Amino acid sequence: MKVLNQTYTLNNGVKMPKIGFGTWQIKPGDDTYQAVTLALKNGYRHIDTAEGYQNEKSVGEAIRDSGIKREEIFVTSKLESHIKDYEGALLAFEKTMEALAFDYIDLFIIHAPWPWSEMGKDCKEGNVLAYKAMEKLYKEGRIRAIGVSNFSPSDIENILNHCDVVPAVNQIGYFIGIDQSETISYCNEKGIFIEAYSPLGIGYLLDNPIINQVAQTYKVSPAQICIRYLIQKGTAPLPKSVHEHRIIQNTDVDFEIKDEDMALLETVKGDPRRWS
Ligand code: A2P
Repeated sequence: MKVLNQTYTLNNGVKMPKIGFGTWQIKPGDDTYQAVTLALKNGYRHIDTAEGYQNEKSVGEAIRDSGIKREEIFVTSKLESHIKDYEGALLAFEKTMEALAFDYIDLFIIHAPWPWSEMGKDCKEGNVLAYKAMEKLYKEGRIRAIGVSNFSPSDIENILNHCDVVPAVNQIGYFIGIDQSETISYCNEKGIFIEAYSPLGIGYLLDNPIINQVAQTYKVSPAQICIRYLIQKGTAPLPKSVHEHRIIQNTDVDFEIKDEDMALLETVKGDPRRWS
């Protein structure tokens, strides 16, 4: 079976397709609608959005118009990073559900341990409050799995110490070269699944000479190497593209990178992302 059609099983038994379609940085409206439509047409059954991307409405429309049964598509959204209280989290969730126009969502996660505008701020108490609101919605059956994103081991420890439901996932920026070993081994130990956003380093990884060398060995593109690498690491990559040929190419990862080439990819070091 193609990787695209395979699933991982989360710590509560919910199945999640191995490759997700990332929608960060796709403009709301027609761009998102078209991209998600193309992704679904080409076999993706896992779509990742967020309140913060402002494109949930277009994601929901594309899913409904696809004609594919709602239960066949795994949808993730995220609680905005600045919402760190119980009532605020409940309200934000209703906003998400209204935008998507769904009865339930598959995965809802706290977007970050701190507001994007105050990165590093201690919001431990607020994260517990927001997470408790998500636990309530989870127990009511409105969310099939809850989790976190961009959480460090100590941020997760705080949730484990004060809440009941072990997060199903931690969605982190993970790609060839970035060192996420501490977070990954902590999450593995606790049964928290790793989802990998920016699997291509938002595109900046694709001209890396080592990745290109390995790509030539397998006669695939650098993007396919980046995605396959994350699959072999046992994570769920969430590649984003607005171009159909790339949307298709990013699902064509049914080859095996040999141990020696995985070791070569491990020699890539650093974070190539540029933010300007
Ligand atoms: P585009 O959307 O114009 O196709 P990430 O998934 O790490 O966030 O990377 C997304 C970036 O990589 C986007 O700029 C996207 O551009 C580009 N991209 C996605 N898939 C491919 C591919 N197969 N080949 C080259 N660039 C790609």
